[in-house]
Amino acid sequence: MLEPESVYSQVGGTIQIRRVQKIFYDKIYAHPWLSRFFEDIDQDLIESQQTDFISKTLGGPSVYYGALPVPAHMHIRITGELFDLRSQLLAESLREAGIPEEAAAIWLERDEAFRTRLVKGSRLECKKRYTTDEILDFPQPESWPEGRQAG
Ligand code: HEM
Repeated sequence: MLEPESVYSQVGGTIQIRRVQKIFYDKIYAHPWLSRFFEDIDQDLIESQQTDFISKTLGGPSVYYGALPVPAHMHIRITGELFDLRSQLLAESLREAGIPEEAAAIWLERDEAFRTRLVKGSRLECKKRYTTDEILDFPQPESWPEGRQAG
């Protein structure tokens, strides 16, 4: 049973979580650096996995049966900077979707709680999940941030 005051209810349930994921992944797929990690991943699929995962994380229905975050990202070189960037896009998406501030702050906190388990100090910490996996390790492109001058 759902608690009426769960964060899941405060954000507006599955419909609002799905809206946030759409806005968020549109930004990720349009971003010159973050998009590289998703080149082989179907956007609709990841949005729907994330909707289920976040619903559960925020106290909503337990409908997520996918991989847990640590095993799902073991082949991905997530740097602190990349994690910051993702958090920034998530915060913007929550604002654009009109999620109430207090609930958005809790969502961001729950997301942030994964940082230490997902950020890797070097490529050597990455491991393939399957033999067919590629290690995903992309440097920050020179075209980002816009307007940044070399030197
Ligand atoms: C910069 C940070 C991150 C990057 C670059 C990233 C990238 C990715 C990619 C590429 C996938 C698809 C993996 C595949 O199916 O082959 C994925 C899946 C997923 N990510 Fe992330 N992610 C990041 C942070 C996070 C965080 C903070 C969370 C949790 C709050 C998260 C939760 C998930 C979940 C639940 C899946 C689906 C797992 C599955 O069922 O396979 N990710 N991520």
